[in-house]
Amino acid sequence: MKPMHVDGPTDWDVAQLTADPAWIVRLDDRARADLMAAVRKAFDADRPMLDYRRGDFDFGAAAAPLDRAFGQAKNRRGIALVKGLPRADFSEKEFELLTWAIGLHQGVARPQGKATQYLSAVRDVGTVYRSAGGRGYSSNAELDFHTDGSDVVVLTCYNRAREGGMSMVSSSVRAHNEVLRQRPDLAEVLYQPFHFSRQQEQAPDEGPYYPNPVFDMLDGVFCSKWNRNRINSAQKIEGVPQLNAQQRAAMDALDAALRREDLMYTMWLEPGDMQILSNHTTLHSRTEFVDFDEPAQKRVLFRLWLAPPDGPRLPDSWKPFFRSVEARTVRGGILGHEYDATRRAYEARQAADLGMRVAS
Ligand SMILES: [Fe+2]
Repeated sequence: MKPMHVDGPTDWDVAQLTADPAWIVRLDDRARADLMAAVRKAFDADRPMLDYRRGDFDFGAAAAPLDRAFGQAKNRRGIALVKGLPRADFSEKEFELLTWAIGLHQGVARPQGKATQYLSAVRDVGTVYRSAGGRGYSSNAELDFHTDGSDVVVLTCYNRAREGGMSMVSSSVRAHNEVLRQRPDLAEVLYQPFHFSRQQEQAPDEGPYYPNPVFDMLDGVFCSKWNRNRINSAQKIEGVPQLNAQQRAAMDALDAALRREDLMYTMWLEPGDMQILSNHTTLHSRTEFVDFDEPAQKRVLFRLWLAPPDGPRLPDSWKPFFRSVEARTVRGGILGHEYDATRRAYEARQAADLGMRVAS
């Protein structure tokens, strides 16, 4: 495919994003009170998370602003920030359920790793990020710019770190356009498949790596996928073609664009903040962090991966990882090793509630 400049609101730089207030949604006291009441009413410490239904949570005055924020992330800027979720009066478990409840209203949650978990606590448990089975979310490392494994990723912040842990987001559309402007030959390389490691979390019917181009386009819908750590990791897997000099130059050109000061938006997620990103049009990262000593104060965020009901048809090149590329299907995620009947039943139920299809 001949790369072409991509226009539209997803093509932003820091100045344009800063000048646009619409992607930051602040909840007022009433919306916050309604969220708190909804979670308090439904919270049952003995109830498995997958058992809750969308109808268990009436968000009242919070419903419209939350919908607006997800709309910004999916259909406009690729990024949204909600400020003012109830945090101060919530236990970690209540805040976790709030995150899950928001997900129930916005899509079908996708599993995120070997344990087939649908909601991950993002905290440092000592994982080595740059190892064959390493994952960033359970480490304190500075992360490479990357996409997560779903259409949409949601992060809610319960505690921030003592130092570091700053969140960075760049428009993959703008980065694409910049590489195309400076080095059209390298932009073309990024439309060819790269090989990504599954970090030893593959399901029984999946191989240890998969091909995916960094950029692709279908019917005007732009898609990007990036994770240098996983590409490097795949280089050590038998059968993966070695990267050539042109591919390496293309990877460097992309990372240089993503980290340019005028293109990389940085923010501190505060307790009670929720970041929503489209993985197709943004790339994200975070800096290394140092935790507080006190266990109850350590950095923790909750992460959801969602397949939203209005997801567009994706390019066929997304199929090896997403498994389905059809519009309105449950797709993406890391099925992992525990993808059992209970989890399938949750997905089928939630898909039916949202009018979506479960991929066969
Ligand atoms: Fe991520």
